[in-house]
Amino acid sequence: MRDYFTSQSSLHVGIIMDGNGRWATARGLPRLAGHEAGAEAVNRVVEAAPGCGVAVLTLFAFSSDNWSRPKKEVAALMRLFACYLERETARCVENGIRLEVIGRRDRLSRKLLAAIGKAERATAGGSALRLRIAVDYSARDAILAAARGLPQLSRESLEVRLGPPVDLLIRTGGEQRLSDFMLWECAYAELVFARRMWPDFDAADLASALQDFHCRERRFGAVPVPSVRREEAWLD
Ligand code: FPP
Repeated sequence: MRDYFTSQSSLHVGIIMDGNGRWATARGLPRLAGHEAGAEAVNRVVEAAPGCGVAVLTLFAFSSDNWSRPKKEVAALMRLFACYLERETARCVENGIRLEVIGRRDRLSRKLLAAIGKAERATAGGSALRLRIAVDYSARDAILAAARGLPQLSRESLEVRLGPPVDLLIRTGGEQRLSDFMLWECAYAELVFARRMWPDFDAADLASALQDFHCRERRFGAVPVPSVRREEAWLD
């Protein structure tokens, strides 16, 4: 097998972390237990990402449509995000992880906003991995907001506002849809849909998705490069 995982460190991987609720229900646990186990999976994947050639990792933690969930679940998720940031900031600094939160901020609690500000400031110097956590995020709203703030609208200027193109998009939990996640940035993303529920996802699953990615031929709309016939290759 080719050594993909140390050769290149420039990939942008996005993950739709789905399946926390089903994971918990299947074990007779409250949904929050699934989200807590999901936070452990986040740590496993963040730890493994730089060694797998991932430079930017964007995780879909809470969509703008998730506000329609029961109030208790939403409140628990917001508390979980704040605790996660408070707890993990020091480890991010230690490991050179630059943490950013993307999405709307005007509907987040003061506590969460303070935790985000603190984590972003503390980790700003990190260069091993750019970790972006999407909270109150909608790709359609992000595109509109980015476009509205631009004096000159172009593909390049939008990309600067939105972030780098996604190379690989992974969705766990067996569903096969994008759910309003990085729609612009995923224009040419390779898609991997994993049946595994997010709380069970680990470094080996990330490596397997990347292995799948590296076997794909990315043509960006062009035609495949013709392969040299074996006899001709012998003549060179
Ligand atoms: C989707 O699964 C998951 C969410 C809406 C929340 C994602 C949150 C985490 C992974 C927790 C930790 C995150 C961070 C960044 C610390 P679901 O609840 O819709 O699952 P279901 O489809 O099985 O119901």
